[in-house]
Amino acid sequence: MTSENARRPIGVFDSGVGGLTVLKALRAVLPHEDFLYLGDTARLPYGTKSGATVTRYALQTTRQLVDRGVKLLVVACNTASSVALPDLESAYPGLPVIGVIEPGAQACCRNAPRGRIAVIATAGTVRNAAYQAAILRLRPEATIATRPCQLFVSLAEEGWTEGPLVEGIAARYLEPLMAEFPDHEPDCLVLGCTHFPVLAPAIRKVLPEEVRLIDSAATTAQCVAEELSGRGLLNPSPEPGAETFLATDDPERFARMGEIFLNRELPATDVTLVDL
Ligand code: DGL
Repeated sequence: MTSENARRPIGVFDSGVGGLTVLKALRAVLPHEDFLYLGDTARLPYGTKSGATVTRYALQTTRQLVDRGVKLLVVACNTASSVALPDLESAYPGLPVIGVIEPGAQACCRNAPRGRIAVIATAGTVRNAAYQAAILRLRPEATIATRPCQLFVSLAEEGWTEGPLVEGIAARYLEPLMAEFPDHEPDCLVLGCTHFPVLAPAIRKVLPEEVRLIDSAATTAQCVAEELSGRGLLNPSPEPGAETFLATDDPERFARMGEIFLNRELPATDVTLVDL
């Protein structure tokens, strides 16, 4: 029975293609797992919606993945992770659920020798203050400043990831955030939205050189690997795992944008349209 369970896929969801940054990191550490990725593109962005709405969406996307037999759920969306985890856990008591905020907080605390941490995220994640809470649990003395950068989600979904326009927007968001720290220098800047890593080169250009850029994908992947191993749920198959993609709107667009995030070809025929 356990071995049968172990062969089931891992479910991953986000509002759109942003969570593919997490999928890529998961694939790197879990080569034999099958993944089922759902991008709720019809209802993106989540970051501007109320907590109650995001929780409702998260429950519906999870239902879709659970119905397809996932053995573990990765909430590859900071906005949903910041508000919906308790409801997901009580709706699906047997299902291990891993969000991206705790791993992101662990990663930034490891990269903040002076405890100075800047966080950028969606409006919803900033409003829910989930990063502050997670960071302060690990480093009660930390100095934290946060800023919503909702336009970054649109830029990433549009595939506009570099150039003067993106750098101009990044400077406008980040300069006031840097100014909240002594010498305008936090130790690190957390990319608290899974859409943001594709903008990292443009963000890097407007940051002081010493500031480290942190994204939660690699740490999240490590947490997932440990959770699966602890539960005896690592897929025993020696074969490379498969990836299946679901989207709630326009599979062609999902595939086009997905290629940028995954850095590999993704034919539209590999993306299935679903209704939640
Ligand atoms: N990628 C998501 C996150 O990590 C949400 C972006 C959005 O839909 O606003 O927060």
